[in-house]
Amino acid sequence: MTKAMSDFVYYNPVKVIFGKNKIEELAKHIPSDKKVLITYGGGSVKRFGTLDRVLDALKDYDVGEFGGIEANPTYETCIKAVDKIKAEGYDYLLAVGGGSVIDGTKFIAAAAEFDGDPKHIFGKGVGKGLPVKYAVPFGTVLTLPATASEMNDGAVINFKKEKAKVSFSNWRVFPQFSILEPELTYTLPKRQLANGVTDAFIHIIEQYLTYPVNGMAQDEFAEGLMRVLIEIGPDVVDEDNHDYMLRSNYMWTATLALNRILSRGVPGDWSTHGLGHEITVLNDTDHARSLSALLPAVMIVRKLKKWDKLVQYAEKVWGVTEGSEEEKIDAAILKTVAFFKSLGMPTNLAEVGVEANDIATLVDQLEAHGKTAISERGDQTLDVSREIYRQALTLNF
Ligand code: NZQ
Ligand code: ZN
Repeated sequence: MTKAMSDFVYYNPVKVIFGKNKIEELAKHIPSDKKVLITYGGGSVKRFGTLDRVLDALKDYDVGEFGGIEANPTYETCIKAVDKIKAEGYDYLLAVGGGSVIDGTKFIAAAAEFDGDPKHIFGKGVGKGLPVKYAVPFGTVLTLPATASEMNDGAVINFKKEKAKVSFSNWRVFPQFSILEPELTYTLPKRQLANGVTDAFIHIIEQYLTYPVNGMAQDEFAEGLMRVLIEIGPDVVDEDNHDYMLRSNYMWTATLALNRILSRGVPGDWSTHGLGHEITVLNDTDHARSLSALLPAVMIVRKLKKWDKLVQYAEKVWGVTEGSEEEKIDAAILKTVAFFKSLGMPTNLAEVGVEANDIATLVDQLEAHGKTAISERGDQTLDVSREIYRQALTLNF
């Protein structure tokens, strides 16, 4: 029998409000009787006037602020917002920032309503993986297109004490709405633009580069979105190029890359993310930089497992039609590396500060966090992951 996609449920209730001057419409989307806590990061929203626009749009509301959510948001910081909500009685949250602020806010929303120790929302060596039953409703204003957290129900939190970066997902932490103003990307520095394009690209890869199941729409969507990022990426990372067409395509593509439309009914492989989080735990490497430093090695070490999809990737995404299957695959891997380099992203682990004697630590972390049988078939053991780290350290394109 021909392989077919598996059964699935697709649910996504996020109202996306896309375009210019949408912050000014915030009051249309938040019930007028709500007491709103605005959450944000290290200060970019203050520096660039976004917070003032939000405060102005919410001038008739009772509002408070919680700033200081870091990149790779920590449990230790977010839990302070939970205390504030309980002490001051907020019943709506508004995240203004990138993936870190939005993820942090998802955790805060769930933790404020959680019966018991909020650490237990997480599993994987940190908590007990208990279900989230309630969450404070919230919306988002996205300032950095990368994670698609603005249109999904997942969050990744960094536990400094436990040395773990762990995710949870639950439909109760879908944002109620997300404002996507492409012009908010005009203040992003090159490093964050490159991170955003790369993270989105690798989200698509992780939902695509497995084995074929004839998910025709999923494959075509994924291939099309990757081609868009390849086409616009090098221009998007030019921080002085404030072309609205470019930035609007960048923003919407990054959201579509992980609003789960690509993953329904097809296998997924989140091993690059799984291995990458351990690098961030080790030395605070930016999320996307951990991924681009690993992906070429994942493609090489897992070539036989991903063979058919790698050939399809070469042909449909990179237009490689000449040569044997293996030559096409090798050409596609080189083109992927060249694409990351054109964005200024690292393509091996030495470039993100990992040294040979760190590999044992990274593999120990994988074990502690339960990542011993990962990838699309669950056959990526610690030995395979060690080999990926090893090759990612020594590869030099
Ligand atoms: O903190 P501020 O001062 O606001 O500065 C931020 C931060 O330093 C800055 N920035 C954001 N918008 C800006 C801006 N600077 C100038 N102009 C703007 N418009 O950018 C820096 C990085 O922000 P951050 O939110 O950390 O970046 P990103 O959106 O890449 O988020 C990364 C986090 O998301 C998680 C990652 O693990 C990481 O913790 N992820 C979440 C996912 C999800 N929820 O589905 C999936 C992803 O795979 C990822 O794991
Ligand atoms: Zn990611």
